[in-house]
Amino acid sequence: MDITLREIYDGFAETYEENRGLFDMTEVFNSFYARLEVEKGKLLDLGCGVGEPFTRFFIDRGWTVKGVDFSERMLELASKYVPEMQTIHADIREVEFEPGQFEAITAIYSLFHVPSNDHAALFDKFYKWLLPKGKALFTYATKEYTGSNEFDGYKEFMGKKLYYSHKSPDKLYADLERLGFNIESTDYRNIGNEIFLWVAVSKPMIEVAHGANRPLPTAESSV
Ligand SMILES: C[S@@+](CC[C@H](N)C(=O)[O-])C[C@H]1O[C@@H](n2cnc3c(N)ncnc32)[C@H](O)[C@@H]1O
Repeated sequence: MDITLREIYDGFAETYEENRGLFDMTEVFNSFYARLEVEKGKLLDLGCGVGEPFTRFFIDRGWTVKGVDFSERMLELASKYVPEMQTIHADIREVEFEPGQFEAITAIYSLFHVPSNDHAALFDKFYKWLLPKGKALFTYATKEYTGSNEFDGYKEFMGKKLYYSHKSPDKLYADLERLGFNIESTDYRNIGNEIFLWVAVSKPMIEVAHGANRPLPTAESSV
């Protein structure tokens, strides 16, 4: 499944980038940026694609950005469009960073390509990698996109069958809260005629829920 998805994104990197300009992301960027309590910081963007327009927005505001993607072709274009971004060619489920590194983490239109049973483990890493008061923003698929409250399967996108996976919003919120996040906003947005749920979370200043008492995330914990 991953090889196919990676190959598909390699295949349509060029046209994807052209079409991306048709999506007006201004409101998404501005509302997340307004939440951040630092002027300049470090952003980790997971599934960064070609880096336009999202990471470019941060770099133009003086942020340092690390972008992770498993599509080589997407990263080649990223180094052309956003040469300031440090790119890491890896699967977002496998990449590792030191704890407490980032003021912000984003996963824009990427997390829904990862099996939902792996989401809690990834959110747990978000928590670990964020600084206290750090924030994360991600796009989540829901029934408004897939037609089902929970989904694990294939949908057509730009003429190809792509893998998508998600839980119900309630299960997602329960996972996030169990991991210690504050849920800051949950917005259904229609961008380019696609409705997704945009979720912003923050890591508390004091890690009350994070530690020995906190249940470890497993695939079963959120089922
Ligand atoms: C729909 S594109 C979004 C790209 C970019 N975030 C944007 O908003 O333009 C999804 C990106 O996620 C990447 N991706 C999907 N699953 C991934 C995974 N498991 N590890 C790394 N990258 C992944 C794809 O290669 C692709 O570049």
